[in-house]
Amino acid sequence: MAEFNIEVFGAVERWTINGEARRNALSRAMVGELQQHVARVSGAERAVRAVVLTGAGTKAFCAGADLKERATMSEDEVRAFLELLRATLRAIELSDCAFLAFINGAAFGGGTELALACDLRIMDEAAEMGLTEVKLGIIPGGGGTQRLPRLVGKGAAKDLIFTGRRVGAEEAKALGLVNRVGDIDDAMHLARNIVENAPLAVGLAKHAIDDGLELELDAGLALEQRLYQRTLGTEDRLEGLKAFAEKRPPVFKGK
Ligand code: COA
Repeated sequence: MAEFNIEVFGAVERWTINGEARRNALSRAMVGELQQHVARVSGAERAVRAVVLTGAGTKAFCAGADLKERATMSEDEVRAFLELLRATLRAIELSDCAFLAFINGAAFGGGTELALACDLRIMDEAAEMGLTEVKLGIIPGGGGTQRLPRLVGKGAAKDLIFTGRRVGAEEAKALGLVNRVGDIDDAMHLARNIVENAPLAVGLAKHAIDDGLELELDAGLALEQRLYQRTLGTEDRLEGLKAFAEKRPPVFKGK
């Protein structure tokens, strides 16, 4: 059985983790397939411009590492799995495609780390998130200690990671851990809003924000300038101006 159920809605794809019985936990097979799908939508064609990633059922978005599989793995196998997971999450960030996590249920450990690697997070009002690793004698190994403080700040990240506590939608929204509280239709609507815009511009804006945040301000502004320059020669920029003058919606081609 495929690890993901893939549905196509024009330039938006919805990827549903197909593992309800194990609460959509991150198995080796599942992360391997995720890596292939990320590579597919990040290729030169760029027909897909936004992905909504969610989990099957209502109980879990992703219950983190597959703890049953983990119990059978050697230390070397755990290390190899974490490398695969880290590379896959990084590929999501480096992709020009916009990734939205719809957190339909519990997202613990690696489940929260998967959501953190996405560009935007929409959370069901009954869902819970948490980096619960210290309760299992480990620390987050899929980027959680790095991405969470970048998103919510050092103090809130330490609160969540040191206690391993679970947060509901209201607190997650207040912390800035999620962008919106809503349902799958809200997540799909947001994705459609994104793909209406010029594809190259959205991809460049993603890199300007993500890469720029790692730089000091002047270097970040210089990065923005370089990326802006790349929009100047595009057909889509001219189409944006023409459509404005003609009072019609633009038809972007990603060129
Ligand atoms: N890995 C493997 N299997 C998992 C799993 C995981 N991370 N989380 C849940 N499952 C399995 C359970 O073992 C159970 O299998 P079984 O039917 O063979 O006994 C099944 O999924 C349902 O689990 P259950 O706990 O009964 O479901 P629930 O809907 O009441 O609760 C969770 C769902 C996600 C809240 C709960 O399962 C949970 O807290 N899981 C552990 C999360 C965790 O600690 N992740 C690791 C962080 S590093």
